Amino acid sequence: MKKILIIFAHPAFQKSRVNARLIEGLAQMEGITFHDLYQAYPEFDIDIAAEQQLLTGHDVIVFHHPFFWYSTPALLKEWQDLVLEHGWAYGSQGNQLNDKWFFNIITTGGGAAAYSQQGYNFYTIRQLLAPIEQTARLCKMVFLPPYVVHGTHAITPEEIEAYREKGQRLLTMIRDGDFDLAAAMQLQYLNDYMKRSD
Ligand SMILES: Cc1cc2nc3c(=O)[nH]c(=O)nc-3n(C[C@H](O)[C@H](O)[C@H](O)COP(=O)(O)O)c2cc1C
Repeated sequence: MKKILIIFAHPAFQKSRVNARLIEGLAQMEGITFHDLYQAYPEFDIDIAAEQQLLTGHDVIVFHHPFFWYSTPALLKEWQDLVLEHGWAYGSQGNQLNDKWFFNIITTGGGAAAYSQQGYNFYTIRQLLAPIEQTARLCKMVFLPPYVVHGTHAITPEEIEAYREKGQRLLTMIRDGDFDLAAAMQLQYLNDYMKRSD
């Protein structure tokens, strides 16, 4: 069984419509640790040693966040800057994250069509995630495609619920080893992996 660490970041959680639903039940799932960064560190005073210890105790690391300016919310960027230390996460002596799996769970205001060369965001989500993908690679982790919920402004409660159910089913499959990594790596989005098994 793989142990999954969900690192959640939402600076205005009280106003959240989509993420608030998506995370429901995660903390109660076996084998999953749900870690809310803004709740743990409202003053941005990240405990580096505690975060590194959390990371070493898990096999799969997930950044779960709304897309903010084509990237992560600020505290999650601060977390990357402080926690992924040279000699620990990367560099010739930095092997603590070797072979762990990594992916993002992202919600975006923009619809799927906006994230293409023809759309108003011009770039695809995969292209925009390049800094995070390369960070994961430098830390010798295995970068998986993201699980994405697009068009959050227009999404219905029923659609959010479907995404929540699918996302949690995906996490269960990854946790239980009921997951074809090579097939998943070919996809743009992990959402499409779920289509395969529907
Ligand atoms: C500061 C800020 C930056 C944002 N940047 C983006 C962006 O780059 N791309 C996008 O599609 N949506 C962007 N959004 C919209 C959010 O991604 C969207 O509101 C969020 O995913 C909705 O999730 P929630 O209901 O959990 O808050 C941004 C929102 C805020 C407040």
